[in-house]
Amino acid sequence: MNIIFLGPPGAGKGTQAKRLEERHGLVQISTGDMLRAEVAKNSETGKQAKALMEAGKLVPDALIISMLQSRIEQPDCRHGFILDGFPRTAGQAEALDAMLAADNKTIDVVLFLDVDENTLADRIAGRYTCVNCGTTYNEVSSPPAKEGTCDVCGSHDFKRRSDDTRETVVKRVQEYRNLTAPILPFYRESGRLRTVNGMAPAAEVAAQIEQFVTK
Ligand code: AP5
Ligand code: ZN
Repeated sequence: MNIIFLGPPGAGKGTQAKRLEERHGLVQISTGDMLRAEVAKNSETGKQAKALMEAGKLVPDALIISMLQSRIEQPDCRHGFILDGFPRTAGQAEALDAMLAADNKTIDVVLFLDVDENTLADRIAGRYTCVNCGTTYNEVSSPPAKEGTCDVCGSHDFKRRSDDTRETVVKRVQEYRNLTAPILPFYRESGRLRTVNGMAPAAEVAAQIEQFVTK
């Protein structure tokens, strides 16, 4: 099964994609994580992406489409994948359908995480991640059981994303409104869109999603 998560920044796409990956053995593909890895390596792609990401702007379609195509051609994607953060423009959505069709594949379901825009900045401001294992926490909704200690690996080392400032979140939400929200009708008309109430606690959101992916 191939799945897309759509939703604004901070809607919970990464949180839910990770849970689905663990439950269903699908591969989570986060284009944001892939870009952050390129920035950390200081590769050509990373150099092109860095300033745009820090300004809350989308990176160019051509760059992200070729990066995504090479990833979904990897053998581990053969049994299904979850796209977290892609597609984000009409051009990306069309390119994705074309690249999958060429390989006799398709997207089975598009999960739209519907979240009130007023909550996004708070969620993002509260987010932090374990440096060692990548587990994501939230100061308000999901802190570790023992303060300052990662539940998964026991590390005490946490980091925040450089684009998680309140100013940048405003820009990221604008990009979402202008470029990503307009692709929702494309998936709705093809009968693949499922709307999930992303305002519920993460475990309840996961339960809603489960109904859509096991049908
Ligand atoms: P990317 O990394 O994709 O960021 P994003 O879309 O802005 O999404 P986030 O990762 O901020 O949020 P999320 O929905 O995953 O929320 P999360 O689960 O972490 O992209 C970053 C940048 O890369 C872009 O700005 C762009 O420059 C570039 N880029 C990436 N892909 C691109 C593309 N396709 N085209 C062009 N450019 C691209 O949750 C957030 C917080 O809330 C966490 O703390 C979490 O614990 C908490 N939380 C989660 N669920 C709940 C809940 N139900 N209730 C309460 N709290 C919750
Ligand atoms: Zn950890």
